[in-house]
Amino acid sequence: MGHRLPRRSLPPMMASAALLCLAMAALWPAASAAAMDDGCSSSVRRSPAASSSSSNKRKKQEEQKLWVFGDSYADTGNLGDLGRELTHAWYDPYGQTFPRRPAGRFSDGRVLTDFVASAMGMPTPVAYKVRRGARPGMLARGMNFAVGGAGVLDTGNFQRNISAQIDLFQALQAGPQRRRDNDNNNNTWTALVVVSGNDYSYASSGGASNDNNGTSAAIAYIPTVVRELREQLRRLRDEAGMKKVVVTNLHPMGCTPVFTRRINYTGCDPLANAGAAQHNAALESVLAALDPANRTFLLLDVHTPFAAFLLDAADDRDDNNGRFESPLRPCCESFSKDGYCGQQDEDGKPQYTLCGDPGRRFYWDDVHPTQAAWAAVADSFRTTVNNFLST
Ligand SMILES: *[C@@H]1O[C@H](CO)[C@@H](O)[C@H](O)[C@H]1NC(C)=O
Ligand SMILES: *[C@@H]1O[C@H](CO)[C@@H](O)[C@H](O)[C@H]1NC(C)=O
Ligand SMILES: *[C@@H]1O[C@H](CO)[C@@H](O)[C@H](O)[C@H]1NC(C)=O
Ligand SMILES: *[C@@H]1O[C@H](CO)[C@@H](O)[C@H](O)[C@H]1NC(C)=O
Ligand SMILES: *[C@@H]1O[C@H](CO)[C@@H](O)[C@H](O)[C@H]1NC(C)=O
Repeated sequence: MGHRLPRRSLPPMMASAALLCLAMAALWPAASAAAMDDGCSSSVRRSPAASSSSSNKRKKQEEQKLWVFGDSYADTGNLGDLGRELTHAWYDPYGQTFPRRPAGRFSDGRVLTDFVASAMGMPTPVAYKVRRGARPGMLARGMNFAVGGAGVLDTGNFQRNISAQIDLFQALQAGPQRRRDNDNNNNTWTALVVVSGNDYSYASSGGASNDNNGTSAAIAYIPTVVRELREQLRRLRDEAGMKKVVVTNLHPMGCTPVFTRRINYTGCDPLANAGAAQHNAALESVLAALDPANRTFLLLDVHTPFAAFLLDAADDRDDNNGRFESPLRPCCESFSKDGYCGQQDEDGKPQYTLCGDPGRRFYWDDVHPTQAAWAAVADSFRTTVNNFLST
């Protein structure tokens, strides 16, 4: 189930300038006005409504806080700009739909974090990396620690693993600013944990075992990954003070373009998908054991909507029957199979093709969904998330 991405698009953190992006994300009405004509409007228009009705059910006076831990499916700018080759998300054509320039999201626009926040009726929390530039009010709404390339365990490229991201959260809570804000009420704390497979990509590339047995090595790694994930989930509830923890399952990894390109996007890789299913079954058992009454943990099922859009469409028809045209084919595709979306030659000439309308595609690049895909996936969980957080 490995994909190559973490091997090339990883490293740590550096200073950056995602302020425009964050300012827009923080102001949903402004963002939605800007987004009306950009092909992503349906989901965006909905967010003000979500904020007025749903989330207020839970805590009228208390504002909810969302703390995000995970990888590039959730990162909104924590993986800094380390150059075009390593951190594509800071270069064209990333961000062309939102915020209309590359700003650190691994998509043409919004990512999972934005849609979960929207479902909660709140603005996207500030990315840790740019916390110093955030509007003061925004720091009271939580923070995003997720970083592209991260895994539950180390993935070989210096990103903070989930455990290190939680360490960072706890250090901030213990720090002087938190105490000054007198902000110790944890009744409204929700964690979002997004694990999308970097551990398995790393294992399948030989990183964990030093031999390259591909998908079977990744599958052998599942118990180790899920055991460590269990420990971090337990810790979020028992030690970090989270009142609710929303955790995603794995999407059908074998449908990502990095797997399907070699057969011209005509079908998914069954073994990688079986691995994802096995991870998901193990994760369900973990949650059932940690929280039999389903009080604290919610499994956010992204697998089912991904599969609905991708698996039935595996013959790559262009017949427009579905929500997405050629759903296995990425919008942004490098000329060379070892290239990447955003690649340029020495003269600055693009070495990739771009589809006409990312709003009609499911995958943006060889691993990451488009904003339109995330919006469609979010339609399937909006009510579930809301009901869970209202209890
Ligand atoms: C996570 O990262 C920390 C800090 O780099 C490291 O000490 C720890 O061993 C890592 N945890 C796992 C499970 O790999
Ligand atoms: C990799 O494959 C070889 C030969 O098929 C096998 O002996 C070895 O145990 C495998 N390693 C892993 C980690 O699966
Ligand atoms: C969260 O609140 C509970 C009381 O509801 C308290 O016992 C716990 O220490 C708090 N945890 C943190 C990390 O603030
Ligand atoms: C791949 O699929 C596209 C669209 O169906 C088609 O136009 C193209 O010729 C195919 N390429 C190969 C190498 O089969
Ligand atoms: C908790 O959720 C799981 C998975 O959705 C479900 O199978 C189980 O019946 C639920 N348990 C309770 C006590 O509601």
